[in-house]
Amino acid sequence: MKQKTHISFTLNGETTEIAFAPHKTLLEVLREDLALTGTKHGCELGECGTCAILVDGRAILSCLMLGLDAEGREVKTIEGMAQGAELHPLQHTFADLGAAQCGYCSPGFLLVAEELLKKKPHPTRSEIQEALSGNLCRCTGYIKIYEAVELAAAKMRGEEMELPRESVYGLE
Ligand code: FES
Ligand code: FES
Repeated sequence: MKQKTHISFTLNGETTEIAFAPHKTLLEVLREDLALTGTKHGCELGECGTCAILVDGRAILSCLMLGLDAEGREVKTIEGMAQGAELHPLQHTFADLGAAQCGYCSPGFLLVAEELLKKKPHPTRSEIQEALSGNLCRCTGYIKIYEAVELAAAKMRGEEMELPRESVYGLE
């Protein structure tokens, strides 16, 4: 029988203990051992960003981190982004503006954007582009994602933001 390693860490605000094969990445532990499939499995090479999560508040690629390195850390996945039934403002704006289409890339984008808005409540478009540059999306063309982050940032600051008409109604 294969030997398992055992860790204790905080996952989406709750103390969690889990045993798993020691070669597993944190991505595999989350999806296969904890059944949290919101974190998506993409390239496994650190190139697509779809597996991004927050560890101690910083965005990391869970395909490049061993599960056993999560010992004692604070891990947040997309399942922990909403507060109960209340979606995070980024989740609202991604849905409202069509920034999530097939949705495969969305958990990674959302968590990286959450880290950005914590550090920079008023990011410029180029700061948003830079922060999200490690995340790939095949569907949206990125503009809707940037606008969704800008709109969520404005909402979180308590400000109104005027969006281009085509962002809301499409090209006429
Ligand atoms: S699956 Fe981790 S970066 Fe692609
Ligand atoms: S919404 Fe489909 S890959 Fe981004």
